[in-house]
Amino acid sequence: MAKAKASAKPKRSATTKRLVAKKMRAKTVVRARAKNNAARKVAKAPRASREKVVKARRGKGERALDDVRILDMTHVQSGPTCTQLLAWLGADVIKVERPGVGDITRGQLRDIPDVDSLYFTMLNHNKRSITLDAKNPAGRKVLEALVRHCDVLVENFAPGALDRMGLTWARIQSLNPRMILASVKGFGPGPYEDCKVYENVAQCAGGSASTTGFDDGPPLVTGAQIGDSGTGLNLALGIVAALYQRTMNGKGQKVLCAMQDGVLNLCRVKLRDQQRLARNGKLTEYPQHPHGRFGESVPRAGNASGGGQPGWILKCKGWETDPNAYIYFITQAPVWEAICKVIGKEEWITHPDYAKPVARLPRLMEIFATIEQWTMTKTKFEAMEILNKYDIPCGPILSMKELAEEQSLRATGTVVEVDHPTRGKYLTVGNPIKLSASSTEVRRSPLLGEHTDEILAELGFDADEVAAARAQGAV
Ligand code: COA
Repeated sequence: MAKAKASAKPKRSATTKRLVAKKMRAKTVVRARAKNNAARKVAKAPRASREKVVKARRGKGERALDDVRILDMTHVQSGPTCTQLLAWLGADVIKVERPGVGDITRGQLRDIPDVDSLYFTMLNHNKRSITLDAKNPAGRKVLEALVRHCDVLVENFAPGALDRMGLTWARIQSLNPRMILASVKGFGPGPYEDCKVYENVAQCAGGSASTTGFDDGPPLVTGAQIGDSGTGLNLALGIVAALYQRTMNGKGQKVLCAMQDGVLNLCRVKLRDQQRLARNGKLTEYPQHPHGRFGESVPRAGNASGGGQPGWILKCKGWETDPNAYIYFITQAPVWEAICKVIGKEEWITHPDYAKPVARLPRLMEIFATIEQWTMTKTKFEAMEILNKYDIPCGPILSMKELAEEQSLRATGTVVEVDHPTRGKYLTVGNPIKLSASSTEVRRSPLLGEHTDEILAELGFDADEVAAARAQGAV
């Protein structure tokens, strides 16, 4: 067989071709990133005065989001929860409020006359406040400067309100193609998308209310703000993910979190049970089994555990006068023997009606009533101490007073005392996310428009421009 004549350019094997193509792609990505970074520097080229202030204020990577600027157009609870969290992680959060009015929560549920309410202060720590009227031309100019200046715009207005301010997605992108627009709405696309929504509406529409409470009572809402604060948490995660994606593709995007979706996401165990019920006609760990009746939908299960280990809330010593003298008790299968010994029912360890989890299921209410005879002889803290020795999962029902006074929560920064110029000292919840290399210092919420001048200077507006805007009521 004749040998193929060697060509001047040796032929590449398929593997070599693939490697070369990969190398070229990598080079393109590096070039694109460099271009993006350069474009970002130009787009963000700060004016001298702004640079000085920003440099002084910004950290040097000491906190996770030190380099991120948030244009915070949120109000009430869901949006502010999100932006407060980002501020705790180090972002520079600029809260935009209407001149003379501000976030409606400043004046709601006030405990001290004419002082920002706890409702507001506890949702707006570590932020700066600028007032501007987005519907006034001079105010709009400031708002658009902020869109150019920031990385993320967060809003939770009623559907359509942002567009009516002139900030359509197209306009935002033309001002700042890297901008991430993050929104909370009550519902996603569908029949209710135009509805205004508050916390309890979301709890009801997201499946929480229909599955909370007792079988013989009405649906109940829960005290945890799963619709508002829960959705705010989702939004924060969406923003961080979008910021990360932007480091690779250089582009902004929209992030949408609907409150109904957020609540349903937290109710997933009930959607699980809906399908189990449809298949088997019963839910054996529910209090309705075996004496009650099941309908077509997941019923309210009182205090039953949502998992595979049955639990219930039991009275403790003092329950007659203390509404929180209760403990949550879980009859976890691996520690069943220990439970029997602790409560003095050693015969249950081997008895065929009690020894195995499946045998216990139809007797759960009777079992919990027997355990309660024991818990009622102990305070919730005494019971905790005894049960924990045997690794029996349980939890005291802690009142808000007890939580406010709990020193271990103060030590971890989960409950923080903050000083405020007009209200004095108050307690708030701190950052629930603890990063080992990004500490959180909880700083008081801003007074209405406290940082207007400072931010306008950073944006490059001179004294005459500021005076003119003020004269028009635009800022
Ligand atoms: N300058 C000028 N106008 C401003 C402004 C500013 N700085 N800030 C707000 N506004 C205007 C808005 O443009 C809007 O005006 P428009 O509707 O006439 O165009 C108006 O203030 C009020 O906004 P809206 O969001 O409708 O407030 P609301 O008090 O009537 O409704 C909610 C409150 C929470 C029900 C509603 O915002 C909503 O459904 N949000 C989405 C879901 C949500 O987050 N709910 C949880 C809240 S905790």
